[in-house]
Amino acid sequence: MASKVLHSKGRDTFGVGIATTEKADGCILANVIKQFTTKSGGIIPAEAAEHHVDVCDMAIAEALAAAKIAMRDIDIVSFSQGPGIGHCLRIGAAAARTLSIVHKKPLVGVNHCISHLEIGKLLTDAKDPVLLYVSGANTQVIAFEAGKYRIFGETLDMGVGNMIDQFARQIGIGFPGGPQIMKLAAAGKNYIELPYVVKGMDVSFGGILTNIIRKFESGNKGTAAPLSTPNYRKEDLCYSLQETVFAMLVEVAERAMAHTGKNELLLGGGVACNTRLQEMCRVMCEERGAKLFVPERQFLVDNGAMISWLGILEYLKGTRTAVEKSAILPYWRTDEV
Ligand code: FE2
Repeated sequence: MASKVLHSKGRDTFGVGIATTEKADGCILANVIKQFTTKSGGIIPAEAAEHHVDVCDMAIAEALAAAKIAMRDIDIVSFSQGPGIGHCLRIGAAAARTLSIVHKKPLVGVNHCISHLEIGKLLTDAKDPVLLYVSGANTQVIAFEAGKYRIFGETLDMGVGNMIDQFARQIGIGFPGGPQIMKLAAAGKNYIELPYVVKGMDVSFGGILTNIIRKFESGNKGTAAPLSTPNYRKEDLCYSLQETVFAMLVEVAERAMAHTGKNELLLGGGVACNTRLQEMCRVMCEERGAKLFVPERQFLVDNGAMISWLGILEYLKGTRTAVEKSAILPYWRTDEV
């Protein structure tokens, strides 16, 4: 079975993946990713949606070419129904509905967050992991427990990637900011204390963002800061930001592992591409005799392949999404699936 997917993620990526259960040497036949980027400044949802419209046809054609199949070979069409930013989800949903109607293929709407967990299980040796899902829009610790997907910890305000991107914008680097922040952090030497905000199993980033922006501005604009304010280096701020927020994420992930008795940690989401976060997770897992699984980059970031694969799993369980019930669900929670 091949599942064609139109996947419009919450913010910045339009992807088309093709998956199958029939190939012994790999279930992912295509994974085309078109990412919206800026040279400076952040992301504006309406502009990202325009980008998605522009690349839609091209992405579908490229995916079919990569898989060496035609639309008639596709059995089902799945799409990310939520969560995410409405502007962007709407484009993927509209394209999927169109393909479904024109080519008379069943439509399956899937949950974006759970697709990160299931693609990780497909492509690594993880059997029953705790997923640390860290992206721009989302920050969740998820696992399948007692018959359903559950959230064991999450952000109380913004996603960690969104917070990093907002700081990146403040210091004048483009979108996405994560890779640049990682480079600057590698040149940081001095740890500057930032708020460490873990509340029970949850985390919060808003206060940290405000605090680090104030520190940056005090060192670079000077006017609002008292004369005694130290001149913080950009590199040290990036280093301190990473060390602080990644320690928070590792702490809640570890607690979820202890609570569920699971000994596998899987990473997902664009922020999981950060090698410092991977290193900190690896150390934590080694210390508790657990295994860490990190899918390759194209399957960590938002991608059509994961929506495609979860579409197949849902279809095999009997899920069908009628066109009239295929409205996007921007606030669809993992534990409502
Ligand atoms: Fe995602």
